[in-house]
Amino acid sequence: MNRKKFLMGNWKMNNTIAESKEFCDQIQSSGLVRLARNKGIVIGVAPSYLSLRYVQKHAHGMIVAAQDAHYASHGAYTSSVSIPMLKEIEVDWSIIGHSEKRTYEGETSFLCNRKIKALVKENFHVVYCVGETAKEYDEGITKDVIREQIVTGLMGLTKEDIQNVVIAYEPVWSIGTGKNASVEIAQDICSYIRSLINDLFGKIASQKIQILYGGSVKPNNIHDYLEAEDVDGALVGGASLKAESFQALVENI
Ligand code: 13P
Repeated sequence: MNRKKFLMGNWKMNNTIAESKEFCDQIQSSGLVRLARNKGIVIGVAPSYLSLRYVQKHAHGMIVAAQDAHYASHGAYTSSVSIPMLKEIEVDWSIIGHSEKRTYEGETSFLCNRKIKALVKENFHVVYCVGETAKEYDEGITKDVIREQIVTGLMGLTKEDIQNVVIAYEPVWSIGTGKNASVEIAQDICSYIRSLINDLFGKIASQKIQILYGGSVKPNNIHDYLEAEDVDGALVGGASLKAESFQALVENI
């Protein structure tokens, strides 16, 4: 199955509006969007909520995603942003379940599930993040952890819903550490995730779904990951923040 390559930058709590503007200006003048299109790569970024509207308007030809969304449409949920609020600024993608939300804010796969169900119901696309901690890796329970995150996180979704979901495998121990998972580990777990999707949603869904690797992906190693059969792209933090580095990622795919 010929799946499109996908590069998504997760800016986390980086890039002010002024820095986001600089990124967009440089991307527009660099011809990067055309290059990506010619190479058959889908590209996108997930800015902070404050930069989201600006980037959505100015990053032509790129997917623009929120980094989270609340499952409720409105209400007394201080600090949260709802799906209708994102729709209003024409954003229809969101990352869900990033390990930093799970680790620092106690987000569970069950909560991710509520959010994913609310998003796909509104025709949003979701990048659902899964991954084991260093301790879980050392204990050899990576696949048990991934199974729980996939089974619970995607519970109740239909075969139609799953078409709007991209999975990102991000081992927590490799995020921002420079300690990359080997290509073999990335391939093994991405292939395992595909087999879980096959069990839950059938063969066609499993062949179509895009599965990304994330964790210390840089311009000098992105190529190796994307050579792996079941790795369809990358979710990149640090190396996606500046336009030159983002461009280098695309050039090296
Ligand atoms: P780094 O690329 O900075 O390791 O971050 C990965 C990540 O968490 C992307 O969501």
